[in-house]
Amino acid sequence: MFKDFKRKDPIFKDTWSLYLKFKNSLRINSLPTYRPGKSIEELQRELGFEDAIKLASNENPLGPPSSAVDVIQNSAHLVHLYPDGDCYNLKKKISFKENILPNQIIVGNGSNEVLELVAHTFLEKGDEAIMGEYCFIVYPIVTNLSEAFIVRIPMNNLALNLDDILPKITMATKVIFIANPNNPTGARSTKKDVEHFLEKVPDNIIVVLDEAYAEYMGGENTNVSTLINKYENLIILKTFSKVYGLAGLRVGYGMASPEMIGLLNKPREPFNVNQVAQLAATVALDDEEHVRKSIELNKAGMIYLKAELTKMNIKSYPSYANFILVEFKSSASTIYEELLKEGVITRPLENYGLNNHLRITVGLEHENVKLINALKKVVA
Ligand SMILES: Cc1ncc(COP(=O)(O)O)c(C=O)c1O
Repeated sequence: MFKDFKRKDPIFKDTWSLYLKFKNSLRINSLPTYRPGKSIEELQRELGFEDAIKLASNENPLGPPSSAVDVIQNSAHLVHLYPDGDCYNLKKKISFKENILPNQIIVGNGSNEVLELVAHTFLEKGDEAIMGEYCFIVYPIVTNLSEAFIVRIPMNNLALNLDDILPKITMATKVIFIANPNNPTGARSTKKDVEHFLEKVPDNIIVVLDEAYAEYMGGENTNVSTLINKYENLIILKTFSKVYGLAGLRVGYGMASPEMIGLLNKPREPFNVNQVAQLAATVALDDEEHVRKSIELNKAGMIYLKAELTKMNIKSYPSYANFILVEFKSSASTIYEELLKEGVITRPLENYGLNNHLRITVGLEHENVKLINALKKVVA
């Protein structure tokens, strides 16, 4: 309705700002909202719990590696300085671990930031980005922010079959987002599936392979980084937020060809990763024992939770990550609320379109027991 105003004329200044406000609110309102898991402090404030547990955000229940804690404590005196905008030492360490070159790496404020950079760099108004029906909610958010179209691939039994993506590719397709394993469902594709898929995708379409939970997958499926040498359209993402236990510091990275990394660096904020995070991530990469323990703990917890859920006749989906997707016969919102009253925070998934489901992070042994006891009480 404001279309016909001479926008630059000062006479229309007030109306123009109203137009901008109106236009922006329309765009912003159409975005799904990322709802983080409720924090322990929030639950303590609301219900006064002293011993609440949070199984909502897929954090590492073992916490950060002690080597990283030492570095964090010893680097406090550096925070008056800007960080190394190039993350030189961290990239060097990552390059050794992944068997790639430092110029094939971009470090982000969480892998979340690298997802934003992908959208800033490659998605424009009218483009299409393909993603699974139930995928990490940041994919549709960054796609929408770039005014690109979201193309969802139906997921049979909540697992994405990569072959189902191919017929949805059009002239407008620019980016394909795949999380492996997938959040929030926990399903995965094998390395063979991924390679088979990459062979068939036209090389002018960017494939983002988001491996936030890959370390939990185990076996030969975890080692895919060097595929960036073969596929110039591939961007692989990893994070320090999960198995490395550094979610609060916000560090993740992307791997791709040097040319692709060069493009992704253009919209990046110069000092996007703080120095304490860079130092902690660098030592965390060396702490293989912490990673091993975290994976073992997760494996044991997953076996326990699966067995207990089966005994209770509650459906759960196969998971290759550090969380489990649970399905109830009706809306899960009451169960979520009742679990809160028992001091257990889980993740409801209505904003993912999964109304009868909760996503539950595998916790420490006593946390898993507490969850199961609470569920028994609530479901009964
Ligand atoms: C699939 C997936 N990708 C990326 C991220 C972002 O992780 P971060 O920004 O903490 O590195 C998450 C976080 O939960 C995730 O589940």
